[in-house]
Amino acid sequence: EICELIRAQVPLDDWPSFYFKVDDNIRRADMLLAAQWSPGEALRAATSLGPQGMIHELRLSNLRGRGGAGFTTAVKWEAARNAPGHGPNATRYVVCNADEGEPGTFKDRVLLQSYAGHVFEGMTIAGYAIGASRGFLYLRGEYTYLLQALEKHLADLRKMNLLGRSVCGVEGFDFDIEIHVGAGAYVCGEETALIESLEGKPGRPRIRPPFPVTHGYLGQPTVVNNVETLCKVLEIATHGGARYAGLGTKQSTGTKILSVSGDVDRPGLYEYPFGVRIAQVLEDCGARHPQAVQVSGAAGMCLSEREFGRRIAFEDVPTAGSFMVFGAQRDLFEVARNFTHFFAHESCGFCTPCRVGTTLVSNLMDKIAAGHGTQYEMNELNRLAGVIKGSAHCGLGTASCNAIVDTVQKFRPAYEKRLKAVDFEPAFDLDAALA
Ligand code: NAI
Repeated sequence: EICELIRAQVPLDDWPSFYFKVDDNIRRADMLLAAQWSPGEALRAATSLGPQGMIHELRLSNLRGRGGAGFTTAVKWEAARNAPGHGPNATRYVVCNADEGEPGTFKDRVLLQSYAGHVFEGMTIAGYAIGASRGFLYLRGEYTYLLQALEKHLADLRKMNLLGRSVCGVEGFDFDIEIHVGAGAYVCGEETALIESLEGKPGRPRIRPPFPVTHGYLGQPTVVNNVETLCKVLEIATHGGARYAGLGTKQSTGTKILSVSGDVDRPGLYEYPFGVRIAQVLEDCGARHPQAVQVSGAAGMCLSEREFGRRIAFEDVPTAGSFMVFGAQRDLFEVARNFTHFFAHESCGFCTPCRVGTTLVSNLMDKIAAGHGTQYEMNELNRLAGVIKGSAHCGLGTASCNAIVDTVQKFRPAYEKRLKAVDFEPAFDLDAALA
């Protein structure tokens, strides 16, 4: 039901350009400027700063990863730059994670469709800063229809000397980008599974540490950044980190793009300075009697009406960008059940807690949905959520029960109304059953 709702509102091949919506007290012109791309301008600014200077500006900006986790980008780039690499052919790599698989997230797709220049130039700046000569864009399998346009974009950049040998006329800076198309596995959005897949292996997450910054693609230092993070680098190279840090909150600087869908009048992409309240977004997108917002997709948080005063920021409600609104008529139990099926389907099967656990959980949800659940099933859900979270091999398993935990806590009646009243059950009659 949710998928249908989103699909109906967000047709794949009919995307409008960027949708900016900012608070009035924000310098609107800056935001719009950021959306314009003047080929090579930011790259030239970066090369005049030098690799260390660029990383310094990044540090001043306090840019944090937009894939959801919010790790400081400057720390990542610096660590990769300082990592020596391995073997006689030691080298470094830049990877753009465009395996946007989180349900309800579609911002990276729009960025790639309408702002590919930003993405590729951000990757090139990263390559310059860390001393890499090769970059990969790992494109979500479902976004294959973008491939042709992206390849053409790369060819144009080569013609402009914004990729290739001595990029931008900088002697010794050779950098090129290739696109690798994924095969539709959600787990490949996890950076080490993505790297395994790039290497031609099944997409199974590695154990971290070591992190990709020291042991990434082919064991070499690799920076893996989200599409949106790389777009932000252009503003920082061109206008400096201090100015960028003037937007947002102290711990979450700059802006965040939200993919808004669900029971709203105006679904689409919204970009806000960090710190915006959930209620503000709901008002802007024309939410219809919202009872809940699922932030950060199936793996994220389910916020109830009481929490609409909270803020989008790494210190409060962090998000990779998904903002799904559920109106009063929606059944939050069914929402959570849908997510449990998603995780059971997407588990890569490598570790037992996730492979078996996600299926057990979705079976329990089906049992409750069929009217055969009791307090026992509720306790089992709770127990399994703890077991999976505490022992799964990667983030897919760890986050797989977030929606259950949240909805059980905040929308308990949606579960309780389905539970069997066991007190009135007749005692189990073994003889009758065997007869
Ligand atoms: P994480 O916090 O483990 O790592 C985040 C980044 O920081 C990674 O690139 C990692 O290599 C780097 N890092 C962390 N510690 C480091 C260290 N000591 N040294 C060097 N680098 C370090 O988070 P993870 O597991 O990579 O991602 C989880 C996030 O992904 C969640 O917040 C979730 O919301 C989000 N997510 C996003 C999806 C999407 O479609 N955008 C899909 C599923 C989850």
